[in-house]
Amino acid sequence: MKKKLIAGNWKMNGSLAANEALVRALISGMGQPACDVAVAVPAPYLAQVAGIAAGSVLALAAQDVSVHEAGAYTGETSAAMLKEFGVRYVLVGHSERRQYHGESDTVVAVKAQRALAAGITPIVCVGETLAEREAGQTEVVVKRQLAAVIHLNGHCISEIVVAYEPVWAIGTGRTASPEQAQQVHAVLRAQLAAASEHADRIRLLYGGSMNAANAAQLLAQPDIDGGLVGGAALKAQDFLQIIAAAQ
Ligand code: G3P
Repeated sequence: MKKKLIAGNWKMNGSLAANEALVRALISGMGQPACDVAVAVPAPYLAQVAGIAAGSVLALAAQDVSVHEAGAYTGETSAAMLKEFGVRYVLVGHSERRQYHGESDTVVAVKAQRALAAGITPIVCVGETLAEREAGQTEVVVKRQLAAVIHLNGHCISEIVVAYEPVWAIGTGRTASPEQAQQVHAVLRAQLAAASEHADRIRLLYGGSMNAANAAQLLAQPDIDGGLVGGAALKAQDFLQIIAAAQ
């Protein structure tokens, strides 16, 4: 039985004091959750959060990884460096990276590959913009984005996590309905099934204005295996309620 995964994406938020309070509240508030739980923290805080969360069920995630292995790449963080800090998951292809940093499907695929080679699970983010949805392009876009990572040299596709995050639902308070999300998740599941006999093991997360009020309904959908949570992951009580909804 596949455990759900609830991952918080803090984006570029936090401070030493705020992180400490949030992580301590999460660890004491969640006890032994029925799902896996992770927080994707800004790179400078990885060591801090790794220290506070050591020995707890809270897993550490990073928000990005370099396409390069090592060397003269100012500002980049390699997969090996993330691994040294106990990073278990890394987001790749988040729409904010695609949109503001010009990341292509190819770049996203290389990042996923780097993560896997270092023993880190990539959370591969896919999702359409509002214009693409309105143009009836949702399926085409998410399938193209997922296709880029389906053939990972030497690695099985079942080692990844996929997050469907419709761009129009991110940070807007406008959530995809459970039916809309399930519809896209079913498309992604079918695409994965065509590529691997282990597709049913792959966790498909939904992200985009998931909150304490809508999480249970979204997570009840047959192909929604967890959530990638932005804003609501910054508030301990909200995030804890989402974790509690992931049975
Ligand atoms: O990666 C999480 C994300 O982009 C969703 O953000 O604030 O809409 O939950 P939010």
